[in-house]
Amino acid sequence: MYIIKNQTYSLITGASSGIGKEIAESLAKRGNNLILISRRRNILEQIAKYVIETYNVKVLTMPCDLTEKDSPKSIYLWCKENNIIVDTIINNAGMGLFGEFFKQDIEKQMSLIELNINCLVKLTYYFLPDLLKLSKGYILNVASIAALYPLPYYCVYGATKAFVLSFTEALRFEMRDSNVTISCLCPGDTDTDFFVNAGNVKKKKPTQPPSIVADTAVRLLMKNEPVIFPANANMMSKIPRRILKKMVFKRISSYKV
Ligand SMILES: NC(=O)c1ccc[n+]([C@@H]2O[C@H](COP(=O)([O-])OP(=O)(O)OC[C@H]3O[C@@H](n4cnc5c(N)ncnc54)[C@H](OP(=O)(O)O)[C@@H]3O)[C@@H](O)[C@H]2O)c1
Repeated sequence: MYIIKNQTYSLITGASSGIGKEIAESLAKRGNNLILISRRRNILEQIAKYVIETYNVKVLTMPCDLTEKDSPKSIYLWCKENNIIVDTIINNAGMGLFGEFFKQDIEKQMSLIELNINCLVKLTYYFLPDLLKLSKGYILNVASIAALYPLPYYCVYGATKAFVLSFTEALRFEMRDSNVTISCLCPGDTDTDFFVNAGNVKKKKPTQPPSIVADTAVRLLMKNEPVIFPANANMMSKIPRRILKKMVFKRISSYKV
């Protein structure tokens, strides 16, 4: 019996750590070939080596800074020039900035918007027509449970995630008659480098492992779930917005920034 190996690729942004790295591994377990993207070349190469040896899939790495305006188009053109067929896009790369809005560097805030919103929209825009032509494909946009409420001391971050959820649900509706599955992932606090990178160094370490978030995300993406609230986000997602906002503001009012 001949086994026809999968010739298409899943492209994952922010694949060097946390949720993105775990989603990459979860996809590899299912036999998907991978394109791993983030800034840290060495880490991407180490992950690629491990995934190739463990899961016997093909893995390409593309180190780049996704806050650079042309990066998404360069990634798309690189795939086209090298005849790489992408059928899954995981728009996961993201950053936060913790602190009072007006005390944060404005250039950092603009980079955050470039990464969390613009890069995600551009990658979706460039790859979606090819997924439609393939007549199959998956797009997973990573938002956050914070997409459901305003998040003081992460004002801009929270607003970018509300954008991602709104954009993804609207696009999913537009694509409802196609064979492209478009879902949004809304995790709660997860044990990754996110909080330290955001400058929230005093935060208690979250207990939820990124592997749980990733496995749930991949499983429910394949089941065409519109919005995925893994584990600790699931209960919060059921609370009416008005009450959720009150709860969040009450908890945050005890913060020392
Ligand atoms: N952790 C949580 O509690 C939580 C909760 C809800 C949602 N999320 C969302 O989950 C996603 C993944 O975050 P995480 O928790 O896994 O955090 P993380 O461990 O800090 O991972 C962030 C990833 O994004 C990449 N990245 C950051 N800036 C980049 C840039 N300019 N260009 C290219 N890649 C860049 C990082 O790689 P390099 O440093 O190598 O570039 C890394 O691979 C984010 O969208 C985040 O908002 C996280």
